[in-house]
Amino acid sequence: MKTKIIAGLLALSWVLAAALVYLHKDRVQLVRLPPESLAEWYKPQNKRQVWLHNMFKLRREMQAVKHYALLEQAEPLALWTERLNEHYQKISEMVPEWGGRLDQDVMAELITAQQSNQFGQMGYLLGDLQQSCDSCHTQFRTVTATLYRAPDFQEMRVKPSQSLPETMKALNRKVNSIKIAIGAKDRTWALNSLGELKAGINEMSALCENCHSYLPKVYPDTVVETALEELHGALLSGDSKQQGEALGKVAVSACAQCHGTHRIGYDTQQLIKAKSGLLESLRH
Ligand code: HEC
Ligand code: HEC
Ligand code: HEC
Repeated sequence: MKTKIIAGLLALSWVLAAALVYLHKDRVQLVRLPPESLAEWYKPQNKRQVWLHNMFKLRREMQAVKHYALLEQAEPLALWTERLNEHYQKISEMVPEWGGRLDQDVMAELITAQQSNQFGQMGYLLGDLQQSCDSCHTQFRTVTATLYRAPDFQEMRVKPSQSLPETMKALNRKVNSIKIAIGAKDRTWALNSLGELKAGINEMSALCENCHSYLPKVYPDTVVETALEELHGALLSGDSKQQGEALGKVAVSACAQCHGTHRIGYDTQQLIKAKSGLLESLRH
């Protein structure tokens, strides 16, 4: 009897383990991750976004080659074809795992066509080459941009003693306090909470300036300032409908606008990073 139970439990645990691995596998396959060597060509391992800049060069070179082939101008065509080849080869120099994704046959034909002044042929060959660009982009462009270029808020802090999620939760409590106070017609509570919300918003502004310094002040910008003033006015003399609407404007301009860019980007990045951790744990 006892052994039967143990055997049964053992079998069950195998089924569970298999199901878990299956589930994990399923989740891992949702997004294909780029090879790790790509990280070398992005911050923080590199000072610049070397990979992305090589891509911009490739796009420019494709355009120039097409342009000069149409005009049948051999000299600039030779120059730009050479550059195109150089930066195309750079793809596999930077990320050897992606060497197989390059279409070397088409590139060789393109160079031959250029050297023998077969201008008309070059347009077709550029189209073929573009297919090798597109097929890699379909799989890896979005995941790479999210992984290496979406701002990472993990280590960021508004106050040294508080994590970012804690700061966010505190701000959120102020917004909700105002909402509850409006419902309860408790003007003092509403005004006090608004004062604290404003202080919290102003404290955040230094965080944004780390990256947004080249623009006019992003946070709180004039839209947020105006919304806060309107809310203050409505709390003093408006009815609860006006107060609710004014609070809505504050929430959209001071919170939702940033979330639309940064929270989505950051959350997705964290999701992908968690997935790569999962992938690692499956490999070992
Ligand atoms: C082996 C994979 C691979 C190949 C081949 C490849 N690319 Fe890319 N490319 C990428 C990745 C990954 C990104 C995303 C980089 C980022 O956003 O930081 C990208 C991004 C780009 C971008 C920027 C797109 C944008 O608007 O943000 C351009 C332009 C580009 N590639 C051009 C080309 C051209 C032209 C070719 C072919 C001649 C090419 N790429 C071949 C992987 C590849
Ligand atoms: C780590 C750098 C970094 C920090 C810190 C940062 N941003 Fe950004 N922000 C960017 C980048 C880069 C973009 C461009 C879009 C992208 O790549 O996600 C952007 C885009 C935005 C956008 C959308 C585009 C626009 O200009 O309307 C908003 C809104 C925004 N940031 C608000 C903020 C606010 C508010 C803060 C501070 C509370 C902040 N950001 C902090 C880097 C940062
Ligand atoms: C940088 C622009 C930015 C601005 C401005 C901003 N947030 Fe956030 N918020 C974020 C990011 C990024 C996260 C994700 C943080 C994380 O998960 O570590 C977040 C997360 C949150 C969360 C979830 C916290 C949790 O982990 O439970 C709440 C709630 C929140 N924000 C409320 C607000 C409110 C309310 C405001 C306006 C008063 C606001 N945020 C303004 C970027 C911003």
